[in-house]
Amino acid sequence: MRHFLDIHTTDAADLRHMIDHARTMKDARKGQLKGTPDAEQPLANHIVALIFEKPSTRTRVSFDVGVRQMGGQTMVLSGADMQLGHGETIADTARVLSRYVDLIMIRTFEPATLEEMAEYATVPVINGLTNKSHPCQIMADIMTFEEHRGPIKDAKITWLGDGNNVFASFVHAAPAFGFDLTFAGPETLDPDPKLMAWAEAQGRPVRIERDAEASVDDADLVVTDTWISMHDSQTARERRHNQLRPYQVNKALMEKADEKSLFMHCLPAHRGEEATSEVMDGPNSVVFDEAENRLHAQKAIMRWCLEV
Ligand code: CP
Ligand code: NVA
Repeated sequence: MRHFLDIHTTDAADLRHMIDHARTMKDARKGQLKGTPDAEQPLANHIVALIFEKPSTRTRVSFDVGVRQMGGQTMVLSGADMQLGHGETIADTARVLSRYVDLIMIRTFEPATLEEMAEYATVPVINGLTNKSHPCQIMADIMTFEEHRGPIKDAKITWLGDGNNVFASFVHAAPAFGFDLTFAGPETLDPDPKLMAWAEAQGRPVRIERDAEASVDDADLVVTDTWISMHDSQTARERRHNQLRPYQVNKALMEKADEKSLFMHCLPAHRGEEATSEVMDGPNSVVFDEAENRLHAQKAIMRWCLEV
């Protein structure tokens, strides 16, 4: 069974295949209306369940559109409306859904929920974000970097802000794709020490930098994300904002980086907080290419899962 649960639990050659395949599929669709079926219909007769226990715009729409372009059908399910949200176990839900659908994508809170779903499902399961990782996003980000700048191997990537779930997937991807990561943020929002120890054991230690300007000076890519994630308590809002303000990505900061440095944000963005509109809409920003590439990258991920 080919689940796509995390980047570091997926074979590096398979990851490379998915990125290249996504690029081929994207190229093949150039200039077509979004609803035009792909020439190949690898998901014909397949039904995909998309389960959301948290809000989503990109993940929801890009998976749905991707399945349709490949000839399959989708059902979008809200966790709260399912028995899952009312006490039925994950294991039973996984066993039941596997009798109806060919593939399950789930966005949830705890990674344990995703793991239990994968353990008991008899169809592939895809991680559409947990509190701890967001692998589909980083696959799209790698694809986006390579479209603009060529191979990501040996690239220098600086992440500013919270050491969160999206950052963790960058850490997971660094050994497989061979890029260098710098984390710039306050000590209180450092990434999980276990994640840092894992990166070190892989021979890809994450550089920690407290000074935002110093963190970007040799960066090929500058990345940030929301300062408060969906799983974070809102009560810490003011404290977090105060701690994170020095790490805002603004024009002055981007001027410290190379003029060819790209800027990414997985979106949704809080303009004027983690990044200014000047940067979001500026010449280095590829945030909407990233969003588009969720579609193409996930189509490749689904095809890899289903071996079609
Ligand atoms: N980047 C991302 O996953 O966006 P959504 O929360 O809108 O799905
Ligand atoms: N870190 C964010 C990413 C949203 C796509 C969150 O988990 O809310």
